[in-house]
Amino acid sequence: MNNIDEIHQTVTGWIREAADHIRSEINEQLSVKVKTTPNDLVTNLDFETEKFIVSKIHATFPTHKIVSEEGFGDDVTDMSDSIWFIDPIDGTLNFVKQKENFCIMLAYYENGIGKLGYIYDVMKDKFYHVIRGEGAYCNNKQIKPILKRGLSEGLTALNSKLVSQHQNNAIKNILSNTLGLRLYGSAGIEAIEVISSRTVAYVASNLKPWDFAAANIFAEEMNAKLTDFNNQPIDLLKPCKIIIANQKAHEEIINIFKQS
Ligand code: 2AM
Ligand code: CA
Repeated sequence: MNNIDEIHQTVTGWIREAADHIRSEINEQLSVKVKTTPNDLVTNLDFETEKFIVSKIHATFPTHKIVSEEGFGDDVTDMSDSIWFIDPIDGTLNFVKQKENFCIMLAYYENGIGKLGYIYDVMKDKFYHVIRGEGAYCNNKQIKPILKRGLSEGLTALNSKLVSQHQNNAIKNILSNTLGLRLYGSAGIEAIEVISSRTVAYVASNLKPWDFAAANIFAEEMNAKLTDFNNQPIDLLKPCKIIIANQKAHEEIINIFKQS
């Protein structure tokens, strides 16, 4: 299968099937394990979802490589050839505690170029996809061009770790300049809020490649900016601090980091 639209149709089917499974099991007894810290969790459904998507990729594209959160992928050291990034459940803490506000994320890159990205808010049934050169969509409706709004004209999202560093000058400045702070607890959902112009920026420390690989393709397609705190392009194979924002808010945040 080479045609990108055909790959898109196939992948959409996998994600929807994985989400049906999550919805059917979400009220059963979950097996929840702590990974690094008490707020970094993994459940049987994270494992099952990742295993399912990995098995589909292996069967359909035996030569492709996989970078994924829960250990069923490959050890990928460079961005050449065809690579898939999988976060089976992004926002696992929300998943366990709220049973909503989590998403399945998938991204497909060819030789470092993002071709397809997926962020599926499972419980709200909002299916976001992007095809390089063909636009970004929510439930197949094209997302409107991103609004170039500054910090003082909109809402800004941070991850909880940065909020706990509110004594840091840069964070203090971001907080004092924005109309309001939001914390959604899922990097995928936070990226989609920016892409959909419902927030002006999302700033997060310590994200992993599967947390931002799909967002990066949405950002490229929508002319949003996704960089690290020093305005450098992100490395898709390393943990990273990220800013995803419309161009105006991004410039303001970079200036705040420079001056703080
Ligand atoms: P996850 O749910 O897939 O682990 C929460 O602020 C966001 O940060 C989520 O998208 C979460 O992804 C991500 N994250 C990355 N590393 C994390 C960690 N060590 N602990 C908690 N959340 C983490
Ligand atoms: Ca996850």
